[in-house]
Amino acid sequence: MRAVVAKQYGGPEVLELDERPEPKVWPDAVLVRVAAASINPVDYRIVRGYLDAAFPTVQPLVPGWDVAGDVVRVGPAVTHVEVGEHVYGYARKDFIGEGTWAELVAVPARGIAAAPRSLDATEASCVPLAGLTAYQALTDKAGVGPGDVVLVHAAAGGVGSFAVQIAVALGAQVIGTASSRNHDYLRQLGVDPVNYGEGLAERVRALAPDGVDAVVDLVGGLALEMSPSLVKDAHRLVSVIDAAAVQRLGGQYLFVRPDIDDLAELARLIDERAVRVHIDRRYPLADVRAAVEYAEHGHVRGKVVLDVA
Ligand SMILES: NC(=O)c1ccc[n+]([C@@H]2O[C@H](COP(=O)([O-])OP(=O)(O)OC[C@H]3O[C@@H](n4cnc5c(N)ncnc54)[C@H](OP(=O)(O)O)[C@@H]3O)[C@@H](O)[C@H]2O)c1
Repeated sequence: MRAVVAKQYGGPEVLELDERPEPKVWPDAVLVRVAAASINPVDYRIVRGYLDAAFPTVQPLVPGWDVAGDVVRVGPAVTHVEVGEHVYGYARKDFIGEGTWAELVAVPARGIAAAPRSLDATEASCVPLAGLTAYQALTDKAGVGPGDVVLVHAAAGGVGSFAVQIAVALGAQVIGTASSRNHDYLRQLGVDPVNYGEGLAERVRALAPDGVDAVVDLVGGLALEMSPSLVKDAHRLVSVIDAAAVQRLGGQYLFVRPDIDDLAELARLIDERAVRVHIDRRYPLADVRAAVEYAEHGHVRGKVVLDVA
């Protein structure tokens, strides 16, 4: 099968198309014929070697943690999806190297679920990692509910676009940071946009004079450090960037988990049109270098996705 491989760590230039053996399907795995695979920042960080200390890694490595496609085969311990079903998933394994930027991928059953009925596969592949991150930050960690005022740092990116829409669906008022070119986009999602950078705290206080009830930080650095001055209860400050810093500030760190119930809930929100997918750019698999270069510039609106089939 055809796959994107990196034979050494590096930037987009180390990525190439190559032939790889068909993945083995262990008892708890689902073999998926990949239709599309979206790009997340973790993917290009893995290609650069930044997660080498955290995961056993198979070389040459095939990147990719997001997938949508059709089930080709299921391991004998899998009960919740069937051959032929349209699925989507967060395909993180206990090791790195047999990822989703390929024609076939074996995905742990814990990360795969029926795809939203209202999306095509390209759109569906944009949801799992970013959508789960947003959902788990807002529900498991921040406990967001009706009437809350929620601040999302980096509201227009992959995770942010899901976070703001899910927060609105949960009944919250949402303030989101982005550069000016993304303000109309955020308004369409029901968000009060504010520019990030100097003066951010004052701009947020102008919209929420008593402070905000929860913060979802997708940036770290100054945005995270100034957040305790804005949130009423530091425990409801959630960061996906910097575990040590957010814990020092009294908040909570999230590392996103594969979760089939959460994937089902995301599919429900999408099929009810409470959450939409915004694709910034899509590329054929063969143009993976250009796709990663674009994603890595750090100003994606919504998602960048690779069409595989
Ligand atoms: N711990 C976890 O489990 C976990 C899970 C998912 C993601 N993450 C991390 O979360 C971060 C966000 O992920 P993502 O997929 O949303 O990335 P992304 O799509 O690449 O984010 C791009 C967005 O970031 C915005 N941005 C850039 N600099 C900013 C700043 N200083 N302040 C506010 N917004 C800024 C950009 O808006 P403008 O164009 O308007 O500047 C753009 O819309 C990444 O670092 C990723 O690795 C962690």
